Amino acid sequence: MSIHFDEPSRRLTLRTETASYQMQIDDLGYLRHLYYGRDAGEQALTYFHRQYDLGFSGNPYERRWERTNSPDLIPLEYSASGTGDYRVPASVVLRADGSRGADFRYVSHEIRPGKYALPGLPAAYDNGGECETLVVTLRDHSAGLTLQLYYGVFAALDMITRAAVFLNDGNAPLRLEKAGSVCLDLPFGDWDLVHFHGRHCLERQPERLPVPHLVTTVGSDRGMSSHQHNPFVILCDHEATEDAGECYGLMLAYSGSFRAEIERSQTDAVRVVMGISEQDFSWPLKPGEQFVTPEVLLTRADGLTKLSQNYHRFIRRNICRGAHHLQRRPVLINNWEATYFDLDAERIFALAKEAAELGVELFVLDDGWFRGRADDNAGLGDWFENRDKLPNGLKDLIDRITGLGMRFGIWVEPEMVNENSDLYRAHPDWAFTVPGRKPVMGRNQLVLDMSRADVRAYLFDVLSALLRDHDISYVKWDMNRSLADVFSRALPPERQGEVLHRHILGVYDLLERLTAAFPHVLFEGCSGGGGRFDAGMLYYTPQIWLSDDTDPIERLKIQRGTSFGYPVSAMGAHVSASPNHQTGRSTPIRTRGVVAMSGAFGYELDLTKLPAEEKEEIRRQIRQFHADEDTAHDGLYYRLSDGENRWFTAWQTVSADGARSVVNLVVQNPEPFAKVPHVCLRGLEPEARYLLEEEQIVVTGAALMYAGYSFPRMLGDYPAAQLHLIRQDGECDAP
Ligand code: DGJ
Repeated sequence: MSIHFDEPSRRLTLRTETASYQMQIDDLGYLRHLYYGRDAGEQALTYFHRQYDLGFSGNPYERRWERTNSPDLIPLEYSASGTGDYRVPASVVLRADGSRGADFRYVSHEIRPGKYALPGLPAAYDNGGECETLVVTLRDHSAGLTLQLYYGVFAALDMITRAAVFLNDGNAPLRLEKAGSVCLDLPFGDWDLVHFHGRHCLERQPERLPVPHLVTTVGSDRGMSSHQHNPFVILCDHEATEDAGECYGLMLAYSGSFRAEIERSQTDAVRVVMGISEQDFSWPLKPGEQFVTPEVLLTRADGLTKLSQNYHRFIRRNICRGAHHLQRRPVLINNWEATYFDLDAERIFALAKEAAELGVELFVLDDGWFRGRADDNAGLGDWFENRDKLPNGLKDLIDRITGLGMRFGIWVEPEMVNENSDLYRAHPDWAFTVPGRKPVMGRNQLVLDMSRADVRAYLFDVLSALLRDHDISYVKWDMNRSLADVFSRALPPERQGEVLHRHILGVYDLLERLTAAFPHVLFEGCSGGGGRFDAGMLYYTPQIWLSDDTDPIERLKIQRGTSFGYPVSAMGAHVSASPNHQTGRSTPIRTRGVVAMSGAFGYELDLTKLPAEEKEEIRRQIRQFHADEDTAHDGLYYRLSDGENRWFTAWQTVSADGARSVVNLVVQNPEPFAKVPHVCLRGLEPEARYLLEEEQIVVTGAALMYAGYSFPRMLGDYPAAQLHLIRQDGECDAP
């Protein structure tokens, strides 16, 4: 049992592999948070929340003169504005008479086997006996509002999921002005915040700073999780390193506008509130209606590496779904950087033929294949073949490509429409615009109102026909602009605050229906690269195009940053042309391969123009990728160099059974003469012996981890190396 209720003390304890999480119902019915941290067993931890005079902080009415129980200072499982807790609230409730706030008090709780589901939303799932659920019901009796707090305890996976459900079970209408998924109070400790910022072409860059005596907000109001911030934060102690130190992760499984607010209070306690952004959010709740928040994935670990590995495993096994999530992914060629919009059937076939000869397994026809699409001014919405570019039709092209022994994939951007499209001409009201105001354009396109059932029905029909009538086994699902002018013509004025969230629910609904109808199709998410790289999208698409910057040296930073929360198998990564189209930098093809192989691997360049030796290197890379794929995708991932090292970047994967390991290194700034790149390996068994394949020597794990390994000197522009380790039974030779 991972959840235990102690009746006499009214204490609930959740336990995972390394953590315990404890809460208590106090005599006034407040659900107090007691503890989240390294497993302290079921010992009552109430003693460290001493009762003392809290001075001028407000008291609950029931206590009047007794000043030891201020709602402003006690750690809580969930917070609300308006009732004496002045820290950042998780919820803001508006009542029919205009009064605000909610006073949530305990009503009951339930412990049950298995994992709860969240209707219409992505949520972690149980593969059988992995999870226990706790539901704690609170209520504000005067408002007639019930709040259910959900906890999914995946004990062996060291993960606790959380979500909240609001139910209007009173007689009057209510309105939620803020409805956070989680409130986590850490009453003690000195914490650093790690968050992941970025921009188009440089996503998910970690930044670490001490939590200040302010409310720090990480978030997006773009209607997408965004290039600029990721719905994922880490709190770790000041001394925490990759290997040691208390680390907590909070990851929101949501793809729309979000907020993580981190506050260090007057008593140095830290509160984190995370959920849907309250900007442009206002959700009416009539009597009998409920609102379900997205889910937060919470983990605790010793050191940042373990925290990352917890998320990698959980996202692969308990978030990503479908036939492909644990399967080997096909090595693909995407034509985007090879042709951009300048494509026709013969050019595409020539590229596919060359790719097939080199061992590539899947051809992806990117943007530009559909009606009216000569450039990015027209065509979005009309998901029918472009007969000017494909005179014999899409089916003929697919037949020719699959005839080469390859599978076929296609690019779509379903949530968007160009004004110059038949769809927009027929249904201008389907796009987000504000009456009388010129809409903000992004890449010359408008966003379809996915909250509308008729829009989703059209997209389901047109995409189903495309997938049903053609031999397509992969879809790249793109989304290339932030939302603006968010106004739905299908909803009355008082419900416009629902639109942003309903839009995301609509995206999820369409993805759910399509992935269910076409289970053999591998969906890859994309958003101008990695603008919607989050656990919500990974529930539908087990891989996501990582970034539009395909320069391997830039990718080192992007893949490293992304690795803090997301697995290698989720990161779409391609070898592209040199000089690189985004940066103009030239890099060896070997380096491009080493970097992209630590991802869902593929190519994105004109292979027909490559010299023979580069083609040979591609053949070798594909063989190498398949040989190492189990280790890279199923194994444990280790960052070997820190983000400040501008000389080289190194990372390592160790297979799940520990028998194989691959060490990867790219030199960014070669040093003359005296210096060689030296790394201490990680994740090996100290006593075991490992064959270093490239060196043909056998060395102990202890030597490799504690003394380290020196790569040979590597000079020139951005050289890369791999070192393959195979665990041995035999004797150890001195190197
Ligand atoms: C943005 C994507 O990130 C690119 O890979 C490519 O698919 C283009 N869109 C096509 O318009």
